[in-house]
Amino acid sequence: MYMTDKWEGKEHFNIKRFKYVEFYVGNAKQVVHFYRSAFGFEEFAYSGPETGVFSHVSYVLKNRKIFFVFTTPLKSSHPATDWLKKHGDGVRDIAFDVDDVEFVYKSCLDRGAIPHKKPIRNNENGDFDIASIKTYGDTIHTFIDDSKFNGLWAPKFKKLELPKINTSDTKLVLIDHIVGNVDWDEMDKWREYYEKVFGFGTFVRFDEGDISTKYSALKSIVLRSKNWKIKLPINEPAQGLKKSQIEEYLEFNEGAGVQHIAILTDDIISSIANLRSNGVEFLHIPDTYYDNLTQRVGGIDEDVKKLKELNILVDRDEYGYLLQIFTKPLQDRPTLFIEIIQRKGSKGFGQGNFQALFESIEKAQGERGNL
Ligand code: FE2
Repeated sequence: MYMTDKWEGKEHFNIKRFKYVEFYVGNAKQVVHFYRSAFGFEEFAYSGPETGVFSHVSYVLKNRKIFFVFTTPLKSSHPATDWLKKHGDGVRDIAFDVDDVEFVYKSCLDRGAIPHKKPIRNNENGDFDIASIKTYGDTIHTFIDDSKFNGLWAPKFKKLELPKINTSDTKLVLIDHIVGNVDWDEMDKWREYYEKVFGFGTFVRFDEGDISTKYSALKSIVLRSKNWKIKLPINEPAQGLKKSQIEEYLEFNEGAGVQHIAILTDDIISSIANLRSNGVEFLHIPDTYYDNLTQRVGGIDEDVKKLKELNILVDRDEYGYLLQIFTKPLQDRPTLFIEIIQRKGSKGFGQGNFQALFESIEKAQGERGNL
């Protein structure tokens, strides 16, 4: 495995942060209820027939610094209808905050970006600039500059008002990273795309020959922006001890797409306790994972009993440690899921957990005499 915290990219433009993630979903009205009650998001803005948009509806939800947009087409002629027919509910757009949309778009195209939508300036309520380019699968990146915009969220949006619901505070703070799955042998093509177009640097890579690749059956690289605010891992399937989970994703998503969104918390124990009480389902971790935990990862501040009870994973790198947990897929197709992560110095993504989980499953299998 390769990992460096040295900046090896070239910053072509100022990419400030994740602006929002837009999902295409079959029924946004119901999905919104799920993200509010289960993940503690709050209603923020709405666009649809009531605001003069007749082709689709979009609901914007907010949880501290995280913005999720859920869009449902109202007509079969809307492009989201074909998208949904192929992929099912999932992530359509990873949007970024930038300074100068026109310049960013043009310069990205000069460096080989695949165009999606040319820059448009709406100036009904102060300037609102937007443009987008394509990335892996049917996913896009939108660039937004709303620094001079005086309205709520975007043109043709109004305040979203919904009845109050009961939910526990999930203590989620911001998006840590967003992971894409691409097809066999496509990872390096997309790495080059992000290096060239965005000027991102690669700071983690694991490949054939890495122990984690054997256990996880995936190869992975992580690209980042200079300010560390944008981290975009990309996976491709690999030959491993079991069928690659990436292959299963590609089958059900019918191609490349976003695999998971990792959300940062500064109190993972409260977050997971509250998410569980709100009804969020997480992957089950075998008890044996916790048997030698502190021998594997060293001393940690948290009570191992509590981590075991909540099924939270721990991993350490040279910079510190992290705590993480993964939800089950959030829709019927086994495609998109969410990770909750707390960083205590670590810059990694939990690669050490692949082997530990695999071994603890095998240990339990052995105890049942099935090995
Ligand atoms: Fe992750």
